[in-house]
Amino acid sequence: MRIELLAEVDSTNKYIERYLPYGEDVIVCAERQTGGMGTKGRTFSSEEGGVYLSILRFYEGLPADESFRIMQQAAVVVCRTAAGFGVRAEIKWPNDVLVNGKKLSGTLIKNGISEGFVTSSIVGIGLNVNNDVSALGGIAVTMSEAAGKNLSVQEVRERLISELLSPTDFSEYLSFARFLGREVTVCESGTASAIQEERSYLAHAKEILPDGRLVVEAEGETRTLSSAEIRIRL
Ligand code: BTN
Repeated sequence: MRIELLAEVDSTNKYIERYLPYGEDVIVCAERQTGGMGTKGRTFSSEEGGVYLSILRFYEGLPADESFRIMQQAAVVVCRTAAGFGVRAEIKWPNDVLVNGKKLSGTLIKNGISEGFVTSSIVGIGLNVNNDVSALGGIAVTMSEAAGKNLSVQEVRERLISELLSPTDFSEYLSFARFLGREVTVCESGTASAIQEERSYLAHAKEILPDGRLVVEAEGETRTLSSAEIRIRL
C-alpha cells in the first residue's frame, strides 16, 4: 500500500480525499496538523509528537448496515498498538481508546456509500504519543505517560500501520470493551427545543451487538442504543 508521510498538513482526513478518484488504498500520515478535525465538528489538537494518520480503503460488497466493522477495526488496532508498548488500553464505545479513563486516541470516519453499500472509507486516527496534552485539562493521556517511558513516535506510527494492515474481528473488539458488565453513564442529546439539551442516566452495559449498537439495562428496562445519538461516560 502507498504510504505518505507529511511534515505538516491541515488535516490528513481532508488531504487524503484527493486520492478518492484513483480507487487504490493509501495511508497518509503527518507529523502535525494545523486543522485537525474531531467528531461533531470539533477541532483536534495535533501538535508534533502525536501520530496523525488517515487510511483510505475501497470496498466491494460491504453492506452499509455492516459499516460498524470499519469502526471496530480502528479501535482494535489502536488497542493492539498500545499493548505492543506495554500499555493496557480499553475501548470507550464506540471507538475512543482510553487508558485509566483518559483519552489516548480518537477516530474520525467518513464512509462513501452507494446503493446500500460502503464503497470507500476514510479512517483518521489521532494517537497521543509525546505531544503536550496538558492544555486539555487532564482528560487526555499519551502513550509515553502510560508506558512510563519516552516512546518514539516513529515506532508507534509504524506499529499502528502494521496493525492497520492485519485483520481484526468482532471478538477482539469485545475483549477491549472492558466496560461491558459495568455501570456507565449514558448521555443522550436532544434538540426538542431550539436549545440543545442533554439527559444522562446510569445504566448497566450488557452487550454490544455486531452492528455496533449498545444494549443497556436502565430504569427497569432494556435499551438498545445507537452511537449516532448517544455517548457514554465510563
Ligand atoms: C475525535 O476524537 O474527536 C476524533 C479525532 C480524530 C483525529 C484524527 S487525527 C488524523 C485524522 N485527521 C483529522 O483531521 N482527524 C483525524
